Amino acid sequence: MRKKVILITGAAGEIGSALISSLTAQGSLPILSLDLAALTGKDAQLTTHIQGDILDKSLLSRLVSEYEIDTIYHLAALLSTRAEFTPEAAHHVNVEGTLVLLKLASEQSEWRGTPVKFIFPSSIAAYGLPDLDTKRAYTRVREWEWNYPRTMYGCNKLYCEQLGIYFSRHYRQLAADRPVMLDFRCLRFPGLISAYTVPSGGTSDYGPEMLHAAAKGVPYACFVREDVQIPFMAMPDAVTALLRLTEAPRESLSRLVYNITSYSLTAAEFRQWVLRYFPEAQISFDADLKRQGIVDSWPADLDDSAARRDWGWQPAYDLERSFSEYLVPNIRDRYLVES
Ligand SMILES: NC(=O)c1ccc[n+]([C@@H]2O[C@H](COP(=O)([O-])OP(=O)(O)OC[C@H]3O[C@@H](n4cnc5c(N)ncnc54)[C@H](O)[C@@H]3O)[C@@H](O)[C@H]2O)c1
Repeated sequence: MRKKVILITGAAGEIGSALISSLTAQGSLPILSLDLAALTGKDAQLTTHIQGDILDKSLLSRLVSEYEIDTIYHLAALLSTRAEFTPEAAHHVNVEGTLVLLKLASEQSEWRGTPVKFIFPSSIAAYGLPDLDTKRAYTRVREWEWNYPRTMYGCNKLYCEQLGIYFSRHYRQLAADRPVMLDFRCLRFPGLISAYTVPSGGTSDYGPEMLHAAAKGVPYACFVREDVQIPFMAMPDAVTALLRLTEAPRESLSRLVYNITSYSLTAAEFRQWVLRYFPEAQISFDADLKRQGIVDSWPADLDDSAARRDWGWQPAYDLERSFSEYLVPNIRDRYLVES
């Protein structure tokens, strides 16, 4: 008998680490984690970890021969800034890696006779507004609007959303027998802020970087203009959303790709919030025009009404609660321990 598991790819990353704790706390199936990196800290005790590449097909075939995969959280990716420096590598990991896992999930679904749930985190980067006037005119963007990404990462995410829908609805549509297809569900996240990890390689990183620098007592130069506005969300809400979407009855889902968000603020407002808790913080603005251009193409806010209606999405952490109850106390503790 193969052991039934949840597979998390990219498990050593920011979201993966938070997801492992939450899944374990809710008493989920055993977790099989896969990442190029090793797991550290308590996460290493909570999963069976395989250190390896999602593109290693022989490794994946070995995994399916040993495990029955019930649900996949496919988090492994190269993020937006990194992807701009190495676009072909990003395509390789983000698109071909996703294709390999979708194939694996399809075969497992067919073999089990039950769909494997395939949970995919997409991003605000799937949008691309052409200029600031358009960004001001279209604030709360809906899922099907302005799908013209201007980064390799955004293109990869948008295409992988389409691949997921294809494998979930149309795979082998000309075959004599209709296969049991996987159950693809996707969230488009805003910028995420974690109290425990400093992000790297993303283009919304200026928010969390400001906060972590303030807590460490080091100066920070923000790489976007003060008026730049995008939506953000605290990490616990991102994980709750992944879990809620996984549990939602399939018949209640009117879409396979959902926007979710919590609050939207400008970089100057973000700085004000940081200063409220760290009045000594030295935060200046020194816009990197190229990275700035990418953030300018992302919507100022997202319309997440479909998620709220279909599966009861509701962030627990608004701006006030994010800072006062989650970010600031945990970040203070973290740097106190490290100092
Ligand atoms: N953090 C955010 O603000 C945010 C926002 C929107 C979407 N997302 C998406 O959520 C997912 C997780 O994001 P994160 O913030 O945890 O990123 P992260 O960079 O912290 O983690 C990604 C993990 O993937 C692993 N990885 C990369 N290539 C791999 C490969 N070939 N094989 C195995 N593992 C590989 C990395 O080692 C890393 O641990 C990504 O798909 C990302 O695009 C994140």
